[in-house]
Amino acid sequence: MEIVHTPVMKDEVLSFLAPVSGSPLMIDCTTGEGGHTEAFLERYDELKVIGLDRDAAIQRKAVERLQRFKERFTPVNCWFDEYLKGVDDESADMILFDLGISVFHYVESQRGFSFRGDEKLDMRLDAGQRLSAETVVNEYPEDELADLIYHYSEERYSRRIARRIVEERAKERIETASRLAEIVASAVPSQYRYGRISPATRTFQAIRIEVNGELERITPALEQAVRVLRKGGRIAVITFHSLEDRPVKWFFKDLASQGRVKILTKHPVVASEEECRVNPPSRSAKLRVVEKCF
Ligand SMILES: C[S@@+](CC[C@H](N)C(=O)[O-])C[C@H]1O[C@@H](n2cnc3c(N)ncnc32)[C@H](O)[C@@H]1O
Repeated sequence: MEIVHTPVMKDEVLSFLAPVSGSPLMIDCTTGEGGHTEAFLERYDELKVIGLDRDAAIQRKAVERLQRFKERFTPVNCWFDEYLKGVDDESADMILFDLGISVFHYVESQRGFSFRGDEKLDMRLDAGQRLSAETVVNEYPEDELADLIYHYSEERYSRRIARRIVEERAKERIETASRLAEIVASAVPSQYRYGRISPATRTFQAIRIEVNGELERITPALEQAVRVLRKGGRIAVITFHSLEDRPVKWFFKDLASQGRVKILTKHPVVASEEECRVNPPSRSAKLRVVEKCF
């Protein structure tokens, strides 16, 4: 098994989160291939980790990677907001969210997350769910498509892109990631086509967020996380774009104003220059950490 994802800001996360009780429990809400979890299990002999991931394929990789820790690692295949609702009050020492998707999804999953491959438009983390990227692209009304592209990626050409998608799908169903990327590129002005990032990057992000309900899960999950955390315990959240970071920032500020948590990262922590150089996905990452007061 090849590990393709490098955990972002691993040392920084390790420096903020530590056990606060005699039988320490960590909930890794986004285990992915298990990079962060492995680092914590190696560091703390008594630690147990419940590792959540909605994606069963990536979770199989984590289970294989972490099998040497035996019963200290418990994988659970579910959405983090749903799982946390059922967890007892004040039972976890630390809770980690490393939001979004993993390098695995782009390079191995074959689900059309990357616009470079000729893969089926799928983008589901939950393979049993009905809504897929193909449904969004081929069946959503034009206005809805334009709105979601705008709201979930701040793409300024969202209306033009949605219009072109609707024109093209009337001729032939859009089934692959590369076809969608071509259509997006043809809808935007040429200077945008040859910019720093591919013109399809934002649209793909928006569709992925819609398919997996990514943004709407964040605040409810954080509300539960605070309840589930022991006093003195900490929550760390790594985000990769401002649409993820904003709800985290405002939720933490609100809790801090009630005295329920102490914010430990007045400014979000970002990856070092060296990390950004060797692990490019870390360039856009922001880490925020709070400690529970009561
Ligand atoms: C950035 S990756 C985590 C990488 C991990 N920290 C590591 O070191 O390998 C995020 C993972 O969270 C999962 N995920 C994203 N949103 C989720 C949610 N709402 N509930 C459960 N899993 C989720 C994705 O499937 C992905 O595997």
